[in-house]
Amino acid sequence: MNHRVCPWWIGYSLICPLRRWGQNPAKILAPHVHEGMTALEPGPGMGFFTLDLARLVGPSGRVVVVDIQAKMLDRLKRRAAKAGLLDRIDARLASPASMGITDSHMSIDFTLAFAMVHELPDVARFFAEVGAASKPGAVLLLAEPKGHVNASQFDSELQTAREAGFNLVDRPSIRRSHAALLKKG
Ligand SMILES: C[S@@+](CC[C@H](N)C(=O)[O-])C[C@H]1O[C@@H](n2cnc3c(N)ncnc32)[C@H](O)[C@@H]1O
Repeated sequence: MNHRVCPWWIGYSLICPLRRWGQNPAKILAPHVHEGMTALEPGPGMGFFTLDLARLVGPSGRVVVVDIQAKMLDRLKRRAAKAGLLDRIDARLASPASMGITDSHMSIDFTLAFAMVHELPDVARFFAEVGAASKPGAVLLLAEPKGHVNASQFDSELQTAREAGFNLVDRPSIRRSHAALLKKG
């Protein structure tokens, strides 16, 4: 697996509006995210999905974003402020080894891990941390780019997620991605 972290300047290309043509955040997230939820988005980059996530949880919800690059989070926060959504976003700078979300124990309803798991040094630890932070029945949407992750590597990520208590419930179709919808048992 390629553990190289996406350079911060690539973050600008990931928020390109043209990306919405193949990967529309609102369409991808709307079936799973509802008003008042607490969502977790590890590795949000500059927030391509975050703003729609914040719109979907509404004023009574919260989105916890965790990234290891301050420049990604700075840009994400500027974009959220411009959209009037910053007050629902809790942005945290983490270390590569741990997200540092123990204060979110059993409070997360929905997690989006999009194009980030292949960059992690310890995938088992990541799913264990998401599992501990999630409520029973919480949903995890996992997606990986087909250009960086092959089918057997994605299967291995699913197996690791299963060992952390996440069961596969669906394989949604997302352009140029391997994707899976998982539920905490
Ligand atoms: C390829 S970008 C994807 C960004 C976003 N999810 C998207 O799809 O536009 C991967 C992101 O994961 C972050 N990342 C890498 N390792 C991480 C870790 N250990 N914990 C949290 N974020 C991490 C990177 O800094 C980067 O912002």
